[in-house]
Amino acid sequence: MKKIIFTLLALSVLGGTVFASGSGDKGSKTMVLRYAENQPQDYPTTQAAYKFAELVEQRTDGRIKVEVYYGAQLGDEKSVIEQLQFGAIDFTRVSLSPLAEFSKALNVLQLPYLYRDPEHMWKVLDGSIGDTFLKSVESNNLIGLSWFDAGARNFYNSVRPVTSLADMKGLKIRVQESQQMMDMVQALGANPTPMAYGEVYSGLQTGVIDGAENNWPSYESTSHFEVAKYFVLDEHTRVPEMQMISALTWKKLSAEDQKIIREAALESAKIERELWAAKENASEAKVKAGGAVVTELSAAEKQKFQDAMAPLYKKYGAGYESVIADIQAIK
Ligand code: GCU
Repeated sequence: MKKIIFTLLALSVLGGTVFASGSGDKGSKTMVLRYAENQPQDYPTTQAAYKFAELVEQRTDGRIKVEVYYGAQLGDEKSVIEQLQFGAIDFTRVSLSPLAEFSKALNVLQLPYLYRDPEHMWKVLDGSIGDTFLKSVESNNLIGLSWFDAGARNFYNSVRPVTSLADMKGLKIRVQESQQMMDMVQALGANPTPMAYGEVYSGLQTGVIDGAENNWPSYESTSHFEVAKYFVLDEHTRVPEMQMISALTWKKLSAEDQKIIREAALESAKIERELWAAKENASEAKVKAGGAVVTELSAAEKQKFQDAMAPLYKKYGAGYESVIADIQAIK
């Protein structure tokens, strides 16, 4: 009886961390940690999360087991970030947009048209600027581990093809739960509605919103292209994503295990970037075959989109002027 009670106690949840008695080997303990991901199972970020879990388990000889919960089973991104802060969830990968609501400096890294192309963004994130921003979440009880790719975001809607800035006028566009993204849509003359990712499909279907914005893989995997077929390749933002661990979980780990986790995170991020590149092409082909009507902006119209974003640089770049200049100067 005593033994049963002890086992039950040992299995009880301590924050988000479950300690289970190891099977046999000198009473060693297995630490079971939870990883939240809001994308589906076959998505690049989720596949990278599985790889991360595998590496951690292997390299800790099974002392740490990471369970991946995909498809927003543990909540939407905003709620998951909060749960990480108080240790109810151990790991996640989130888009910078909701994270920047907690850690304001991150707004800088998602300013519209900040990066010339993906290579430019990776030079920034893989360099000292990226390291500084990764560290910046520590004041929010979070530990940044690595950067994931999420490509460029583009607008899509169910009302009309967009070929000019004027075409954006009055469209009801879903945005991530981020003040900056609300301001961005407003600056383009459209009407923003913040909404969790998982609610967008029904929002489009019922006409609560006319459109949204995202990258190719998200547009495809959510089936948004079926209910909002006009997609304009305006590439207004590149919103990177951060893989993180709760600072409370981090503190429970030995220096050796922290090192294993950091290295596994970097390796999984590398894998995510490779999977991402392949998925972008496949998703683009799939939505086009599925009836998406893709338009492009002329150079002059793209410039108008870019010019309309100037107020965001003023508001979200205030105090970060030299960092923005450094980013822009990276060749
Ligand atoms: C991308 C991103 C998600 C995010 C989503 C959104 O798909 O990878 O993490 O939730 O955009 O628009 O909310």
